[in-house]
Amino acid sequence: MNRHLLAIRHLERPEIEALLSLAADFRDRVEAGKTVDSGRGRTVGLLFFENSTRTRVSFEQAANYLGMRTVNFSGAGSSMRKGETLRDTILTLRYERLEALVMRHPSSGSVRLAADHFGGPVVSAGDGQHEHPTQALGDALTILERKGSLDGLVVAIVGDVAHSRVARSNAWLLSKMGAEVRFVGPRTLIPSHTGKLPGTVYYDLRAGVADADVVMCLRLQKERMEEATLASVGEYRRLYQVTRGVLRSAAPDVMVMHPGPLNRGVELDDGAADSPASAITDQITNGIYVRMAALHWVFDGAAKPAAGAKK
Ligand code: NCD
Repeated sequence: MNRHLLAIRHLERPEIEALLSLAADFRDRVEAGKTVDSGRGRTVGLLFFENSTRTRVSFEQAANYLGMRTVNFSGAGSSMRKGETLRDTILTLRYERLEALVMRHPSSGSVRLAADHFGGPVVSAGDGQHEHPTQALGDALTILERKGSLDGLVVAIVGDVAHSRVARSNAWLLSKMGAEVRFVGPRTLIPSHTGKLPGTVYYDLRAGVADADVVMCLRLQKERMEEATLASVGEYRRLYQVTRGVLRSAAPDVMVMHPGPLNRGVELDDGAADSPASAITDQITNGIYVRMAALHWVFDGAAKPAAGAKK
């Protein structure tokens, strides 16, 4: 049976804990300068049909640290431009002897289609507005480093919840791990179907971040806004920008997060983005370790690989 990592929603808490524990183990080894190498000899395809900096580079770094070979594929310049379907493209990559796929695609549900046809493990790097499971795992590892536990924490997710796969994956992960999730933003960016996600809705920023342990900002996803869902960026900034002043109503040791890419001066001002409370750079580095965990887990499960030698 193939193991895939397509969404957090269908994972049980012990699986999430196993992935986070693997990631912490990989972090300790990499940061101690030890080799890991448990993926040596395997070839993984990195399929990015949508723009990416952090997620693409960190999956490639993760594969490098595990000793895997990578093949990059973006759709541009491929036979998809001649009309080949996604399904036939996925099948082609299977017969090119790729052994696992990491895939980002603008259509929600596309990673499921890939998993149904590829015949080997598939790891989602974000599908449409659906989920971005490794982002949520990296965010959880970052919170754990600062707070020790997720249980009982109050996490305010602020901004464009409507279009955010990051919000969805985080809401599932955090609530399964015992945190209280709040969605904070304007009505147009928090649609009624948010009610199916685990969390409470706040339309007022200060009420939403009151006593929060973590304030997680989301990028305004202008590329996914079909019609005028946002009156104006200026108005968003005035009502929902997270600043040091806003953070005064949060818990005294609040941490500030953002998955990137950041619209500086819109979701966060410089004071909040670059303050000691900000964990944004840790989120980037932890992205490597959780992606190592994901690539290891889909092949070998939760068992930690044997200790590596010093490089
Ligand atoms: C996010 C994404 O692509 O879903 N970025 C990321 O992976 N770090 C969020 C975003 O694009 O706003």
